Amino acid sequence: MAEIRKILFDADTIAARVKELASLVSEDYAGKELVLVCILKGAAIFTADLMRHITVPATLEFVQAASYGASRTSSRKVQITRNLKKDFEGRHVLLVDTIIDSGATLHALHSLYSGRNAASMNSAVLLDKTCRRIFDVPIAYKGFHIPDEFVVGYGLDSGGQYRNLPYIAALETDTE
Ligand code: IMP
Ligand code: MG
Repeated sequence: MAEIRKILFDADTIAARVKELASLVSEDYAGKELVLVCILKGAAIFTADLMRHITVPATLEFVQAASYGASRTSSRKVQITRNLKKDFEGRHVLLVDTIIDSGATLHALHSLYSGRNAASMNSAVLLDKTCRRIFDVPIAYKGFHIPDEFVVGYGLDSGGQYRNLPYIAALETDTE
């Protein structure tokens, strides 16, 4: 396993920002039926924390998508390995991912669910690697902008490892 090179966001910093994002979501969706769609596996931890600070009624769904596989560079070919069969029937859908890179994952899910009768569809991400964006997708809630650096922790992995770190960190680049 590679060494942690630098902590970018510690647990307290993440918690404070997640709380702020949840307040914004709660204001914007007041009186609406909100569905959070957690993009597994990376968004499991972010979604769990975000949802616990959301004060409007919200339901939770899970999808699983993979664009990186075991490598650190996005293949940009998104595989949906666990999908949702349901129609959204006038509910407001918020796709939740921990990080957006090329945008391929969120773009694929937006396209996939565009015909499912949602009243609205938007996204929330904790981290945005803006300089890597290829696909344009609506993202109403963003936690932090980060440079083009591979990060792990708080649900994000490298080869399946590091998801349990309570902070977000950059890895040494000399392995994998
Ligand atoms: P995109 O489809 O290129 O936007 O990439 C999004 C997905 O790639 C996320 O859901 C993550 O699973 C993964 N990903 C992107 N950047 C990183 C990173 O720096 N560390 C860990 N996973 C990442
Ligand atoms: Mg991954």
